[in-house]
Amino acid sequence: MQATTQAPDGTPHPVFREDTSPGSRSTGLRGWAVRQFRQPYGFWGRVAGWIMATRPSNLERNRWTVDLLDVQPTDWVLEIGFGPGVALGWLSERANQGLVVGMDHSELMLSQAARRNAQALASGRIALQLGDAEHLPDLGTVFDRIMAVNVAMFWSDPVAQFRALRERLRPGGRIALTVQPRSRGATDTDAQRIGERMLAQLSEAGFREVRLELHPMQPVAAACAIGHR
Ligand SMILES: C[S@@+](CC[C@H](N)C(=O)[O-])C[C@H]1O[C@@H](n2cnc3c(N)ncnc32)[C@H](O)[C@@H]1O
Repeated sequence: MQATTQAPDGTPHPVFREDTSPGSRSTGLRGWAVRQFRQPYGFWGRVAGWIMATRPSNLERNRWTVDLLDVQPTDWVLEIGFGPGVALGWLSERANQGLVVGMDHSELMLSQAARRNAQALASGRIALQLGDAEHLPDLGTVFDRIMAVNVAMFWSDPVAQFRALRERLRPGGRIALTVQPRSRGATDTDAQRIGERMLAQLSEAGFREVRLELHPMQPVAAACAIGHR
């Protein structure tokens, strides 16, 4: 197995010890585990979903991101890569007169999130869509808020992706992108560096009033890049 120390954009970075890009030759156990979080499927995907729904650090960074998003009762909110759907429920409690739309490319995560949010789904306060955020379909509307937690690091062309998401925001709308590096040996400095890079990419994509928030937590800090259309 040939491990890489380069991020998909070619920048050397300890967070990207495995090349998980499509077509990657990374076949080690760790690369396989990373792929389960990138697009969970099958038995081990169910295990990954269970971990994401129960691990305290997962819950904490999602709760923190929802807080930073500052959702208002009538907001329409888009969450990309909702995983097992824990944050969808919290978003829907806040946007209780609005709508929460979730998009994830994993059928397994869609079914876990649907089960977890059955009531809100039935009452039309949450809508879930199976889809690839890197080929964002026309969702037929614009949103007041967009968030993604531990998803942006999987995108092959983040600036193009952020531009596409900006198009889905109403003027003045807010995006919050959180990453908590989970590779072995990741440090708070890694989190900060990733956050700063996302911030630069948001600016390049046309977002304004960008700012970086860092949340000290175990085992490593989480970084949230916030921007506005
Ligand atoms: C590491 S999990 C994070 C899940 C959740 N946000 C959390 O923090 O618990 C990444 C999720 O993003 C989804 N995902 C990754 N890339 C995606 C893409 N291009 N389009 C849609 N969903 C994607 C995966 O299927 C997975 O559910």
